[in-house]
Amino acid sequence: MKITINSPLDMHLHLRDEDMLKVVAPLSSKDFTAAIIMPNLLPPVTTIQDVKAYKQRIKDAIGDDNFEPLMTLFFKDNYDYEFLKEAKEYISAIKLYPAGITTNSEGGVSSVDASSLAPTLKAMSELEIPLCIHGESDGFVMDREKEFVPVYEHLATAFPKLKIIMEHITTKDSVDALKRHDNLYATITLHHLYITLDDVAGGMLQPHLFCKPIAKRPEDKEALLQVALEANPKVMFGSDSAPHPKTAKEAPGCAAGVFTAPIALPALAQLFDKHGKLENLQAFISDNAQKIYNFKPLKKDITLKKEEFEVPANYNNVVPMFAGEKLSWKVL
Ligand code: DOR
Ligand code: ZN
Repeated sequence: MKITINSPLDMHLHLRDEDMLKVVAPLSSKDFTAAIIMPNLLPPVTTIQDVKAYKQRIKDAIGDDNFEPLMTLFFKDNYDYEFLKEAKEYISAIKLYPAGITTNSEGGVSSVDASSLAPTLKAMSELEIPLCIHGESDGFVMDREKEFVPVYEHLATAFPKLKIIMEHITTKDSVDALKRHDNLYATITLHHLYITLDDVAGGMLQPHLFCKPIAKRPEDKEALLQVALEANPKVMFGSDSAPHPKTAKEAPGCAAGVFTAPIALPALAQLFDKHGKLENLQAFISDNAQKIYNFKPLKKDITLKKEEFEVPANYNNVVPMFAGEKLSWKVL
């Protein structure tokens, strides 16, 4: 059995920089036609110059592959209308991090408060620049996303024309909130469709499955699966593939992030096939995102075959999800 996906899109991707960029960028550009590139470098991507230079480094790393890096800026509340008007030509979205909530987010906003962020959000709304948010509070780790839902809802109500993307949602509360507001959308990762907290810490600790937001309860995973498998038009695939060197993962103080880019398409095909929903994979991996972000990607057809694929133990010392395990689908 085979399936062809037209123009697969990864709407949330960490490509890093320098040597890591050279290792991971070709693994995404091989299977995907475009990706939303996260700006949480050190220092973060905050100027048009940064965006252009980072995009060029990505293009250098992928060589001739037909792949478009869709760039983002790291949200700052001093971005004004004039700056954003000029930036719009070079970016697809702006990513907002609460300060210190995850890897390289120290320069994020100290409080996600609609009134203090209003000038920037109003300008983004007028210029039709989508706002991507890492939505977690600084509360107890299992409640962080739940506690952020009222913030999402407040922003969605205060800026009804602003497209807000709830990034890497992990809870049923987020799925429910998404449905209550026309201008809320969400990305869903591969790993949050496969794992719960039990897989991370229920037995021996699995550092390669440790990420932010942490995987939640079985009923949360079920809620995510439901909207992904039905390819609900408000959700789209965003891997949040977040590579770290093996030494940074297999260490006390394990870095957060699951590296899924090279195995994302086979693992998604396996999942949708298992649930008898292969016909919805195209919408989840590409069509929904095109509508939400209102763009036409480069044409690229990727064919997958139902055939055993043994996931490599590592890619230059970056360990992928399912390392050494067998998946039932492979990219041809
Ligand atoms: O687990 C994560 N890793 N979550 C994030 O939000 C950031 C990411 C990273 O950049 O490593
Ligand atoms: Zn991320």
